[in-house]
Amino acid sequence: MRVIIEANSQQVAVKGAQFVSQQIVNKPDSVLGLATGSTPVELYGQLINACEAGRISFADVTSFNLDEYIGIDEQHSQSYRYFMNDTLFKHIDIDLANTYIPLGNTGYPEQEAKNYEAQIVNRGGIDLQILGIGSNGHIGFNEPSSSLQSRTRVKTLTEQTMYDNSRYFSPAEYQPECAITMGIATIMETKKVVLLATGSNKAAAVKAMVEGGISSMCPASMLQMHPDTIVIVDEDAAQDLSLREYYRSVERMTEKMNPMEAFQ
Ligand code: PGA
Repeated sequence: MRVIIEANSQQVAVKGAQFVSQQIVNKPDSVLGLATGSTPVELYGQLINACEAGRISFADVTSFNLDEYIGIDEQHSQSYRYFMNDTLFKHIDIDLANTYIPLGNTGYPEQEAKNYEAQIVNRGGIDLQILGIGSNGHIGFNEPSSSLQSRTRVKTLTEQTMYDNSRYFSPAEYQPECAITMGIATIMETKKVVLLATGSNKAAAVKAMVEGGISSMCPASMLQMHPDTIVIVDEDAAQDLSLREYYRSVERMTEKMNPMEAFQ
């Protein structure tokens, strides 16, 4: 794992956007794996700016989102389809027909999960996957105890995730308890992973992911086995890492030997 520690969430977004932009410039018809939640919002803002400035184009990009709630339709303001349209897709030149998000309201979620997995394969697999991490170590909605070999399927959300996401739902509103999510094995097959984490509420999960043993109790720890994962964290999320100074020195060396072209 490559661990990059940035000063704050804005710098995390800028750095993350550089990797995504580089991917799109190198391969304009890239297949991107996208994430929802609060963490990638600033990154998406950076990508929108880059697109508006003509530095990148999503015209030939295909995207697959990690997950979707079961039991609410696409028009629901808390559906991940609504979130993606509103936060990213309507601001960039992507063809909506090339944006894939599992359908949460077909009535046949297991079948939908299988179809989704097949659609990813049909598009040649995911080139770069953007991830956040839950405070309980989940990636996508692969909650602790998820099989590390899992594929896209239905998952029941933990109390912790329900609590973390309750801020998006009004008290009287139905909050889904299940979701369709890419599995850990699905994520492991992506060619490159860029995982962002910000804030002290992610520090324990980041520590377990980067420096803990590989365990289904922290599904993100499986990324230790991924050949090209870049973890970008702010100081608060990095605060529990024992090898913080080592990661910083490696990064200084990497930047010196291989300065990243500035796309932002
Ligand atoms: P967050 O969620 O970005 O809203 O903290 C991350 C996640 O649950 O994967």
